[in-house]
Amino acid sequence: MENMMEEKRQGETLLWGGSQEASKKMYIESYGCAMNFSDSEIVASILTKEGYGTTQQLEEADLVLVNTCSIRDKAEQTVRKRLEFFQSVKKINPGMRVGVLGCMAERLKSKFLEEEKIVDMVVGPDAYKDLPNLLKEVEDGRAAVNVILSKDETYGDVAPVRLQTNGVTAFVSITRGCDNMCTFCVVPFTRGRERSRDPHSIVEEVNTLWANGYREVTLLGQNVDSYLWYGGGLKKDYIKASEMQKATAIHFADLLQMVAEAQPKMRIRFSTSNPQDMAEDVLHTIARYPNICNNIHLPVQSGSTRILKEMNRQHTREEYIALIDKIRSIIPDCAISHDMISGFPTETEADHQDTLSLMAYVKYDYGYMFAYSERPGTPAAKKLIDDVPEAVKKRRLQEIVNLQRAHCDYRTKQHLGKTEEVLIEGTSKKSEAHWMGRNSQNMVVVFPKEHYQKGDFVMVKITDCTSATLMGQAVGYS
Ligand code: SAH
Ligand code: F3S
Repeated sequence: MENMMEEKRQGETLLWGGSQEASKKMYIESYGCAMNFSDSEIVASILTKEGYGTTQQLEEADLVLVNTCSIRDKAEQTVRKRLEFFQSVKKINPGMRVGVLGCMAERLKSKFLEEEKIVDMVVGPDAYKDLPNLLKEVEDGRAAVNVILSKDETYGDVAPVRLQTNGVTAFVSITRGCDNMCTFCVVPFTRGRERSRDPHSIVEEVNTLWANGYREVTLLGQNVDSYLWYGGGLKKDYIKASEMQKATAIHFADLLQMVAEAQPKMRIRFSTSNPQDMAEDVLHTIARYPNICNNIHLPVQSGSTRILKEMNRQHTREEYIALIDKIRSIIPDCAISHDMISGFPTETEADHQDTLSLMAYVKYDYGYMFAYSERPGTPAAKKLIDDVPEAVKKRRLQEIVNLQRAHCDYRTKQHLGKTEEVLIEGTSKKSEAHWMGRNSQNMVVVFPKEHYQKGDFVMVKITDCTSATLMGQAVGYS
C-alpha cells in the first residue's frame, strides 16, 4: 500500500451499465484522474451514437475500452495487468476487440500494439471524435491508432453521457492540457498544450445539469486558474491575440462568476489550482458567492524552495505560505488540500523536514501523497538521477502520511458543534437509515434520513466524528 490517500484518487474504477438493446456492446473502464472519468462520459456519448449499447459482462462485450493513466509507473502496471486479464477473457469471447484510451495511449502510441498483442486500437485523449472511423478499421480486422493532439478544446459540443452517476454531482471540463512543464510530470506530453473551453458552452452544460436535477458541479482542468478564453486557440498564442480579444478575454475569476450567477443555487467546486496561477480576484469571487464552495485543492509537491526550483514550480516556499495566509484572511473557513511528492531527485533529509514543517504550518484538511516515480521522457528523467533510494522515499512518504492523518483529525474536530449546510448525495454506505452528503469544505457528513431527500440542501448540526467523517442531526432545509 503506497498510501491511503493515493488509493482514493487512483484506485477507483468505473464500469458503465446502461441500455442493453443495441446490436453491439461495449464495456468501459477508467483509471486515474477525474479528467479521465469525465472523458469516458464523452466517449460513451460518441459511441452511443454509433449504435453501441453497454454491458458489464466482459464475456459478451464486442468492444472493451480502458481509459488509462500514466502519472506514475504503478498506474501503468495496473493497466498492463488488466490487459493480461482481458487476454484470458478473449479465449471465451474471441470476437472481443480491445481499445486503449487516455494518457498511456498517447505516451506509447503504436508501440502499444507491439507490446500488448491484445490491443486493437490506440486512441489519445484528443482523438475521441475519430472513434467511429477507428472502429470501422478495427471491425474490418485492422489495428487503428490516432494520437494526434489538438489545438482546440475538442469536446465542448459533445453532451457527455453521465456514467455511474449519483444524479447530484457532476464534473464539467473547462480546460485541457497543461503548459507548466513541472519536471516530474508526464501530463504535458500526454495531454498536450493548454487550451480553454468556450465559457458559454460551460454555462450551458451547467444549466442542463441543473435542469436534470444535479446540484453540484466540479469544474475540471489540470490547472483551472490558468483558464483563459479569448475566442479559442492555445493559451500560449494569447500574446498574438488582437487588442479586442484581450479586452474581452474571460479569466478564471470571470468564469466562476458567470457560472455562480447562471445557477445561484448550484454548488460549484473546481480542481486543480496551481499556486503560481491563483490570482487574488479568484479568492474574492469565492468569498462573494455563497454557492462557490470553500475548498481549494492547492498542490505544493514539496516544502523546500530548492526542490520546488528543481521541479520547475514557479514559486518559493515563502510565496506559497503568503498565498495560504491570503486565502485564510479572505476566506476564513476555507478547506485547503494538497498533493505532495516524497523523494524527488536530490531531496535531502533537510528538504524533507521543510516539507513536514510546511505541512505543520498549513495543517491541510486532506492530501494526496506520492513517492516520486520517474516517468520516461520528462525533464527530470532526462536531467536528474533518480537517486533517493526506494526505502527512503517510502519512509519519508510514511512520515508525510502520518502527519497528514493527524491534521485530518485536527481539521475534522474543528467542525464539531457547528451547524453546516450539507448537500445530500445518497444513502450512507454503512446504514440504510442515514444520508451521506458533503459540507462546503468537501467533508463527508452522515445523518439520519428523516423526511429529507437526495439532492436536498440541509442544515446539519455536527455532533460527532470519526477521523474522516462527520456525524450529526438535520435541523432544517438551508
Ligand atoms: N494539475 C494536475 C496534476 C496532475 S498529476 C491535477 O489536476 O491534479 C496529480 C499529482 O500527481 C501531482 O500533483 C503530483 O503530486 C503527482 N505526480 C505527478 N507526477 C508524478 C511523478 N512522476 N511521481 C510521483 N507523483 C507524481
Ligand atoms: Fe503536471 Fe505540473 Fe501541469 S503537475 S499537470 S505539469 S501543473
